[in-house]
Amino acid sequence: MSNAPTEETVIDVEHYTDRLFSFNISRPKSFRFRSGEFIMIGLPALPSQKRPIMRAYSVASPSWDESLEFFSIKVPDGPLTSRLQKIKKGDTVLLGRKPVGTLVLDALLPGKRLYMFSTGTGIAPFASLVRDPETYERYDQVILTHTCRQRAELSYGLRLVESLKDDPLVGEMIGDKLLHLTSLTREDYPLKGRITTLIESGDLFTNAGVPPLNPEEDRVMICGSKDMIDDTAKLVEGFGLKEGSNSQPAEFVVEKSFVG
Ligand code: A2P
Repeated sequence: MSNAPTEETVIDVEHYTDRLFSFNISRPKSFRFRSGEFIMIGLPALPSQKRPIMRAYSVASPSWDESLEFFSIKVPDGPLTSRLQKIKKGDTVLLGRKPVGTLVLDALLPGKRLYMFSTGTGIAPFASLVRDPETYERYDQVILTHTCRQRAELSYGLRLVESLKDDPLVGEMIGDKLLHLTSLTREDYPLKGRITTLIESGDLFTNAGVPPLNPEEDRVMICGSKDMIDDTAKLVEGFGLKEGSNSQPAEFVVEKSFVG
């Protein structure tokens, strides 16, 4: 079988701010992935390009969905996103064939509570996981945190969590298991501050009404910029949690949200 990307059709595009947009594309029947994994996405090469520019994107849609959803940043001079942000319904997007990644349920040991710490487009893999019934089968409580600069950047996540109430597959399972905590760093908001600050001050746990992190009960997934991941992982390790992988599940896993 060829390893070349497949040509998919844009079904829908939604713009949230001048920095963020999401899009849906057709899904090949043979395309299988685990919730939380990422895949290479690109656009057909321009006449001036030898080959298409491809970037890793977390799949934001659940694994049972007919289409594939992605949540992307717009970088004005980004090699891919400067063009990708202009896509319209009916356009062609290239889709890689091999989804991979560590933000998967199988990379964590069983636990009681699952934290998903995200900033910006780092919420994408969790948009898939919070729509996966297995997440709620494995954990008593799921705490999704999303920190952005400004209020408008929270819209994607707020709408997603709102939609779960009527979700035919997970709506009833979720009940009060899912807690969505949002915070802002550059505008007034009830909860202000970086996720790292909220962990250090303990405000995160107070707001969630849970005890501080502990390796016996808690499992953590982290997705954001490289600095956010490094800083958050360091704090999580300070509570005694160890990093896991597909081959060696442990107590927390990390993944960059990819930009460009
Ligand atoms: P801040 O506004 O203080 O930079 P970005 O859009 O740049 O990826 O940022 C998304 C969110 O992540 C912002 O709220 C930003 O806070 C926060 N952030 C940036 N760097 C870090 C870091 N090293 N640790 C935790 N949060 C971070």
